[in-house]
Amino acid sequence: MRIRKFETSDLERILAIERASFGNDAWDERMFLAFHRKCPDLFLVATVRRRIAGYTITCTGSRNAELASIAVDPSDRRTGVGEAMLNHTLAELRAYGVKMWWLMVETKNEPGIRFYEKYGFERDKIVKRYYGPGRHAWRMRFKATAAN
Ligand SMILES: CC(C)(COP(=O)(O)OP(=O)(O)OC[C@H]1O[C@@H](n2cnc3c(N)ncnc32)[C@H](O)[C@@H]1OP(=O)(O)O)[C@@H](O)C(=O)NCCC(=O)NCCS
Repeated sequence: MRIRKFETSDLERILAIERASFGNDAWDERMFLAFHRKCPDLFLVATVRRRIAGYTITCTGSRNAELASIAVDPSDRRTGVGEAMLNHTLAELRAYGVKMWWLMVETKNEPGIRFYEKYGFERDKIVKRYYGPGRHAWRMRFKATAAN
């Protein structure tokens, strides 16, 4: 597995993984290009045998960072791709001196929450209707300074 920065030529494959992962909630091309402009350093893709298996986006400030999204192709799940992308991101966050890594995840997304908790994220609080009527989010955090 290799992890590298996103390039615009990756878009089509990322969009396919996105649709397979989030269905109607999938981000479109414009959204990914906007994140690429805003957060280019930690918009990463993982490749397995030269094929993109997943992507993740984290946006950094000076003390805090926000994990904006992560998805792995359904056929590549449970093989450590997601964890490897988080590890790569975390090493960079530590190098930047970021203290806290935040994210939002839908309360109904139990696999996602388990994945984040296994990694070491902790539930902070529920943000009601974050994803629309009746769709709440867990705000989760990870102390980037601790040696996990
Ligand atoms: C969440 C997601 C990114 C995980 O990616 P992945 O590459 O399959 O994760 P990994 O293989 O690195 O898993 C690491 C550990 O997390 C936990 N985990 C991962 N997926 C899990 C699941 N579906 N159920 C329970 N635990 C899970 C396990 O402990 C796993 O270790 P194990 O396989 O040895 O048991 C992937 O399932 C996905 O793309 N889901 C759809 C998009 C999504 O929900 N993204 C998160 C919200 S933005």
